[in-house]
Amino acid sequence: MIELPNNIAALQSYKPGKAVDNVFEGKNFEKTAILSSNENNLGTSPKAIEAIQKAACNSFLYPDPSGMKLRKKLAAKHFTTPDNIIIGNGSDGILSNIFKAFFRPGDELISSKGSFVAVNVMTKLNNIPYLQAPLTNEYAFDLEAIYQLLSPKTKAVYLCNPNNPTGTMISKKAIEEFIAKIPAHILIIIDEAYAEFASSLSNDFPDTTQINLPNVITLRTFSKAFGMAGLRLGYGVGSKFIVETLMKVKLTFNPSIIAQAAGVAALEDLEFMDQTVQMNKAGLAFYYKSFDEMSLNYVPSFGNFVMVDMGTTEKANAIFKALLDRGVFVRGLSFFQLPHCLRITVGLKEECELLVEKLKDVNELQLI
Ligand SMILES: Cc1ncc(COP(=O)(O)O)c(C=O)c1O
Repeated sequence: MIELPNNIAALQSYKPGKAVDNVFEGKNFEKTAILSSNENNLGTSPKAIEAIQKAACNSFLYPDPSGMKLRKKLAAKHFTTPDNIIIGNGSDGILSNIFKAFFRPGDELISSKGSFVAVNVMTKLNNIPYLQAPLTNEYAFDLEAIYQLLSPKTKAVYLCNPNNPTGTMISKKAIEEFIAKIPAHILIIIDEAYAEFASSLSNDFPDTTQINLPNVITLRTFSKAFGMAGLRLGYGVGSKFIVETLMKVKLTFNPSIIAQAAGVAALEDLEFMDQTVQMNKAGLAFYYKSFDEMSLNYVPSFGNFVMVDMGTTEKANAIFKALLDRGVFVRGLSFFQLPHCLRITVGLKEECELLVEKLKDVNELQLI
């Protein structure tokens, strides 16, 4: 028997549950809605699709390992230089490389409970002690509680803004004051996977790509507002030192030639981005109005999803299942340490309407 390191042996392997495209297999629903993964149900930018089709013809070639065309384009978008931009196989690919590049045995990561689940997995995978402050009563990051956890062992702090799954946002002032207090030897990772939605919803969303400090990296993704989750493309904006270090550990030919080409084209499609954020605004407003009518306890969101507090784990599970049985797939949050809540993505208008219709049916059943 081959012996495994304890941290790997303790990990749960991926359970091949139902893939999203056959989640309703065997059922004969007239209408369905997949509202579980905060994807952009509007699809992918037509400009990106055109670029994907063209790039597919170059699939026999290796991609540019420096990703320079896309990095230049991203640098222009963020008023910086390509030396400050790292691209990766999804933003979780970059996060994974951050663990590889910066952490030594004994180094700790600090963040919050009820945040992005990949961080829990990656810290376990890399044997990194993960200290988590509680969320506030409003399901927001408690920056003071996070600050209190700092110690000489702290290597990095992870902030998710807006936070997945709660949808809450850290304000400009709060994040600036927090960053100013953090010593320069501690890496600050700010995950802004939902930045495009947040900036369309609030003037107070802090665009930390403009912070320009040696110890700060902001992660962004093409998976959400850009509608390219299946292509696996993300990027980080950070200091030259951080980017240079991440370039050392990155797998040479990530991201793929198709993802790089799609990224360049997607950045040019402002019309698709506008449609996306408008659809999201309308969807959120519809959800809030409908959830108010049902007296549901939801958290106002700065992303493309809303978290609803169902009160108990039993109730959340029962509603999740009842919705699934009616053709609507949402996300249960036990892995996010919020088992009494459900997260519901904003989909197309008709998908949001289906969710509300079915949730009303289910709510009237008073399942628990
Ligand atoms: C906060 C957050 N960060 C990162 C990601 C993953 O992004 P990517 O698809 O670029 O790996 C997600 C996806 O759900 C997310 O919610």
